[in-house]
Amino acid sequence: MVINMRVFYPLLLINFKTYIEALGDRGLNLAKIAEKISLEYGVCIAVAPQFVDIKMIAEEVSIPIFAQHIDPYMPGAYTGHITPESIKEAGAHGTLLNHSERRLRVDEIELSLNRCKELNLICCICAGNTPIAISLSMLNPEMVAVEPPELIGSGISVSKAKPEIVKSSVEAIKRINPSVHVLCGAGISDDVDVRKAIELGSEGILVASSIVKSKDPEKLLQKFAKAMLSS
Ligand code: G3P
Repeated sequence: MVINMRVFYPLLLINFKTYIEALGDRGLNLAKIAEKISLEYGVCIAVAPQFVDIKMIAEEVSIPIFAQHIDPYMPGAYTGHITPESIKEAGAHGTLLNHSERRLRVDEIELSLNRCKELNLICCICAGNTPIAISLSMLNPEMVAVEPPELIGSGISVSKAKPEIVKSSVEAIKRINPSVHVLCGAGISDDVDVRKAIELGSEGILVASSIVKSKDPEKLLQKFAKAMLSS
């Protein structure tokens, strides 16, 4: 099965964050594992590498690549910003926006989203709770990911600890804007968490530490992929 660059659902998006375990060649290795599992199981797995690795990884793997953020500046006399043109040139297919570790004002989110839409870059806008997820879904992004900040990195999954946030976000957003795909994340650590997230109506998950820090990411991703297929 050839996975084209189209994102399909359910989606498993691995956020490499600034983890040293996912930097440089170690990030490339993780992306190749993600591609292997994606091809073996026919599930959509995307990775969000660190900026400096996007081009290298995009040239080596055939799964969707997301930046972790962009700045809505136009090309030109601006210093030290990451424009949507630059991540597209590097081979990215989309970006996260407003991750709880890289928060933006609503006007910045809207501007960044519109800049990405001009370039056909897919946006996954992050939200810390249901009311914010609902509000941000009105900007009509491809995806909204609800991630309670207090659970991020905790190993306590949102689908186990706060299932109501996932369920209420999915139900409310689908009522308002059915075209927006709703994902969830934070603390996702095992296949039970993944299966539960899908059962709650989520169209995928965002995950970072359990995969990036795993001693056997391939084995864990296999479990995640099976859980995504079995839900
Ligand atoms: O973007 C996903 C990330 O915030 C979740 O982090 O370590 O709880 O999987 P983690």
